[in-house]
Amino acid sequence: GPYNEMYRPQIHFSPAEHWMNDPNGLVYYDGEYHLFYQYYPEKSVWGPMHWGHAVSRDLMHWEHLPIALAPDSLGYIFSGSAVVDWENTSGLGTKENPPLLAFFTYHNPDAEQAKKTTVESQALAYSTDRGRTWTKYAGNPILPNPGDARDFRDPKVFWHKASSRWIVSLACGDEIRFYASPDCKSWTYLSSFGRDRGGHGGVWECPDLFQLPVAGTDETKWVLIVNINPGGPAGGSATQYFVGDFDGKTFTSPQRETLWMDHGADNYAGVTWSEAPDGRRILIGWMNNWLYAGDKPCVTWSGAMTLPRELGLVPGPDGKGYLLTSTPVRELDGLRGETVMLKGLQVDGTLDLTKRIPFVRSALDLRLTFDLAAAKGSLATRYGVRLSNSKGEHIDIGYDRNRQAFYIDRTHAGSKALPVKEFAAVHTAPFVVKGQTVDWRLVIDRASVEFFAAGGRVSMTDVFYPSELFRTVELFTEKGSIHADGEVTQLQSVWN
Ligand code: FRU
Repeated sequence: GPYNEMYRPQIHFSPAEHWMNDPNGLVYYDGEYHLFYQYYPEKSVWGPMHWGHAVSRDLMHWEHLPIALAPDSLGYIFSGSAVVDWENTSGLGTKENPPLLAFFTYHNPDAEQAKKTTVESQALAYSTDRGRTWTKYAGNPILPNPGDARDFRDPKVFWHKASSRWIVSLACGDEIRFYASPDCKSWTYLSSFGRDRGGHGGVWECPDLFQLPVAGTDETKWVLIVNINPGGPAGGSATQYFVGDFDGKTFTSPQRETLWMDHGADNYAGVTWSEAPDGRRILIGWMNNWLYAGDKPCVTWSGAMTLPRELGLVPGPDGKGYLLTSTPVRELDGLRGETVMLKGLQVDGTLDLTKRIPFVRSALDLRLTFDLAAAKGSLATRYGVRLSNSKGEHIDIGYDRNRQAFYIDRTHAGSKALPVKEFAAVHTAPFVVKGQTVDWRLVIDRASVEFFAAGGRVSMTDVFYPSELFRTVELFTEKGSIHADGEVTQLQSVWN
């Protein structure tokens, strides 16, 4: 039945059937987290895009709702965002019952066929019944294509308190453009960012601009998330970010190097929820990559989201710059079943933990603290976690001390089901481990691993398609030993 297929995630969101890509319209309202998503309801391949819809009270258990937005004569419904218009600036609701506003891109297939540049424009829809039904605004498009940008999409809107107006970030080719509006209906161009910053190996997509406090300081900075495809560090799609300042008009960043939110291959189009309670900044991404998204071995459905992650900012290495941190939201703990403590693990070669984990067939939350000073003899050059099956297929999540990088090696993860040569690769996250201990966390859900280390400073997300699911969990070392303490917790399915 649904949610029982071999590779079907048990603790991640995926549509009941057919194709899904980007998360859209993320907004919290009246106790519910809304998740809309790029959806093609006819087939398990990309097609004329709709906004699918689901809601959750805990970011873990999702209720499927009817399709919110469907294509019309103006085009397909591409990615975008949603806000609560508390003051009814749009006039599309009342102050007593503020409207939810959704911003999306119309992608016009006829204009595309005719090779026009004006393929994409921005549009508005609204709901006054807690997001259950949506009406497209009669004055669409609200932001026509300026004529110089074939790629002009993925509006992310927020209320800018200091200037009392709405701001939208838009992806335009390989830059981000900002516009402002008093009412969400008429928009004025403000500025552009990015031609001389960051990665430019592909088209910029799905931006998001927000503020975050810098942990351990009194400082608050602006973070601009920019998805890019291709040109990511693991090949294909990825998410870069910039830390800087926004004065209501212009975003500036002194940052010279390209910073990646996730160094795995399968976290794309991530953006954050508007209105998340307690000032939390929660991101969800599409756990996939345009390199091979269309070739995945899932017949009845295609595509899952990452776990929702809480974002933070910390000072960068040696106090220079800033780093964005990601950690699974604490609501994940609500799925906890049994826990097994893993104490005083000495590993020299391999240590099979499988027999200690009676719930190894469930989704797992594995936490390890490696103590580099407590290793007996010489410290291993490489160490980590191996997941494997009886067919000799495996995936390694490790740290390489010579290269000073975390890595995920999926070259032997059974990619036969996915005949894309780029799939079988080693993905690396350069990181200098300082101090005596380093914390690891792996969330494993049948055919995906989400890896977080060093307080969320490192994150790597990868999917894999072994011919038989990985049910063996080992620690491994190369050329020496390592010491670790930890625990592994069963995570109960949100679908079954
Ligand atoms: C990102 C993206 C967006 C676009 C959508 C179309 O994955 O290409 O830029 O709006 O997907 O489905």
